[in-house]
Amino acid sequence: MERGESYKPYRIKMVEPISVPTRTERKELIRAAGYNVFNLNADDIYVDLLTDSGTGAMSQAQWAAMLLGDESYAGSRSFARFQETTHDIFGFSHILPTHQGRAAENVLFSSLVRPGHIIPNNMHFDTTRANIIANGGEPVDLVIDEAYEPRTDLPFKGNMDTAKLEALIDEVGVERIPLIMITITNNSGGGEPVSVANIRAVSEIAHSHGIPFFIDACRYAENAFFIREREEGYGDKEPIEIAREIFSLADGMTMSAKKDGLANIGGILAMNDEAIFAAARERLILMEGFPTYGGLAGRDLDAIAVGLREALELSYLRDRIGQTRYLGERLKEAGIPIIEPIGGHAVYIDALGLLHGFSQSQFPALSIVVALYEHAGVRAVEIGSVMFAHPDENGNVVYPRLELVRLAIPRRMYTRTHLDAVVDGMAEVADMRNDLPGYEITEGSGPLRHFIARFKQVPRR
Ligand code: F0G
Repeated sequence: MERGESYKPYRIKMVEPISVPTRTERKELIRAAGYNVFNLNADDIYVDLLTDSGTGAMSQAQWAAMLLGDESYAGSRSFARFQETTHDIFGFSHILPTHQGRAAENVLFSSLVRPGHIIPNNMHFDTTRANIIANGGEPVDLVIDEAYEPRTDLPFKGNMDTAKLEALIDEVGVERIPLIMITITNNSGGGEPVSVANIRAVSEIAHSHGIPFFIDACRYAENAFFIREREEGYGDKEPIEIAREIFSLADGMTMSAKKDGLANIGGILAMNDEAIFAAARERLILMEGFPTYGGLAGRDLDAIAVGLREALELSYLRDRIGQTRYLGERLKEAGIPIIEPIGGHAVYIDALGLLHGFSQSQFPALSIVVALYEHAGVRAVEIGSVMFAHPDENGNVVYPRLELVRLAIPRRMYTRTHLDAVVDGMAEVADMRNDLPGYEITEGSGPLRHFIARFKQVPRR
């Protein structure tokens, strides 16, 4: 056998039973959940593609490492192993564990961001955006325009538009920008990668103005895989070498270890700057815990230390990205419009491409998410107007440019049989596209309303 994408670098040793309610039951369950899939019980779901965050299967090596967890409050052996691995991969002089990614964001932003500050990113994810707003700052998205065109095929569609970045710095002034970020891969825009060349260009702009440059590194291993595949000069580099080059260009990082840490919980905040570290360490002790455990058990630190290395193995990454491609290609064959090229951790359905003329004020992506659950017991997530529509300074609603349904694939969890059920369900939903209802919010507001909102069905305008 050729070691191509069909090679599966693991077999299943432990199984978790799942079942699925009948279609009639699902209709009732989703209605009772206020048409918000966050309110469903996991037991009522067949294939759960809500998120790839913390939902993956750990390896036997990770479970074994957990038994070695040292639960000392300070200076544990687990922290030493975590520090050794994270330093080897990311290279930053100061590395702090946190209980998950958004805690790293909050510790960092509450140390650096003040009212009136502006934080550029290619695209902020929801927690990043919300944490900046909570600290009085303004998140700004500067991804290249093509990222908003679902079918424009570019190798690095997550890249930041460096001209937009320079223009923003000129317009608002260096003193209002406490840091510049870039998110790899770009979760809010299709899970698309960012090139080394772009990261280098952003880094140079940041440093020429003396602004710290941080990477939101949640899916950096997947990003490194795409660089190896698509960027000239990287075809025979190991993912870890690519990762080291990327992080050598930055002053720090935030990361959720629930993604490319292959762990069920955990986060990382790292930096080189002493002053930022001193402020962040104090915030960390206040909000998360002592700097050698940061809100985690020692055993979690061990699981992360092993997971970070496994996520950089080529055989793992080929299988991982291959699964996402399989789902995306099959959806395309079924006539479902998706964001192209297919990204790393998820397939994103272009809701407005499927439901022409469906007003964003009636939440077209939500309508697909609900129908997919009703038809197939599949839980997807809305990344559209429920998540991102917000009022401008005059109170008018600003709608996002992309209206997406994300099918996020947990790591090492599902088989092709599960993914085929998703495709069959989506094909059924597409067949009834003209009959899908609109939705109206009955409860929930603010930048995190998508987690808690409730809705009612309304006739389509
Ligand atoms: N940054 C990005 C790009 C993310 O995708 C996430 C989480 C976070 C930060 C926050 O990390 O969840 O550990 O606090 N994304 C998950 C998702 C929740 O479903 O995409 P966290």
